[in-house]
Amino acid sequence: MRKDAELIVNMGSVLGESPCWDHENSILYWVDILGKKICQFNLQTSVYKETQVNQYIGCLSLRKSAGLIVALQEGFHFFNPSDESLSPICNPESHLPQNRFNDGKCDSAGRFWAGTMALDETADAGSLYCLNPDLSVKKVLENIHISNGITWSPDNKVMYFIDSPKKRVVAFDYDLEEGSIKNERTVVTISRSHGIPDGMDIDEEGMLWIAEWNGKKVGRWDPETGELLEVVNVPTPLVTSCTFGGKDLDELFITTAGLTSDKGETSVNPYAGGIFRVKTETRGFKANRFGL
Ligand code: BGC
Ligand code: CA
Repeated sequence: MRKDAELIVNMGSVLGESPCWDHENSILYWVDILGKKICQFNLQTSVYKETQVNQYIGCLSLRKSAGLIVALQEGFHFFNPSDESLSPICNPESHLPQNRFNDGKCDSAGRFWAGTMALDETADAGSLYCLNPDLSVKKVLENIHISNGITWSPDNKVMYFIDSPKKRVVAFDYDLEEGSIKNERTVVTISRSHGIPDGMDIDEEGMLWIAEWNGKKVGRWDPETGELLEVVNVPTPLVTSCTFGGKDLDELFITTAGLTSDKGETSVNPYAGGIFRVKTETRGFKANRFGL
């Protein structure tokens, strides 16, 4: 099946990423990594707001209490949207100034998982971290090239993870109570005719929705068979991530980058950097919140 995504807002994100749906308030949050912004769009009022931060920002997640948790170039911070203040938590890579955080999100036990990459994309300089609700942090994976999409199966028994240049999705057995992973295996291999796998989300049927950098689309993949089931076309090449949202959680929100190529040329494509939406036949899940 093929569908087309519609543009809902275009504030020209340089590198739009980490879409996160706040179900209670009908707000879609995302980050502009290179534009150093936290962005939000209220789907009910159509009001857009952005906060400029002073460094690269990889990803964000909602908190159980209030506000957001974010992974900045200088580590984990809380963000308070009412006064737009940032409070540092910890920086697991203070010794690696040539790295920045990239994609991440919370598991259903309220841990925030986020990974890093080298600013110049040097191979295998990144790691994947897990920040616990007690604010302790552990390194879970190392030798990661570009730490990207992460999600968990509906029963929380499997964690899926993408290291983009490896062009595959790996799965691990997931222990939700411990927040630990084991038994890595490849479940989806993205062939050369596709783009580079970037951010991802999962639907109620356990199928993976994977954004394709340089691929002009989001694909719906079956992690049991490795098969591509469905395609959502996006009218701009650098499709970065997606998440379920909307009143019935049957809309997929898609972020893109405002560059025309991964070489960093500024775009002439009027859609580049926009946020897109498509109605889906299956529902997704509400975003997990950080447990503090
Ligand atoms: C990163 C980009 C990278 C792209 C494709 C994004 O998540 O932020 O720097 O080029 O993935 O791998
Ligand atoms: Ca990404």
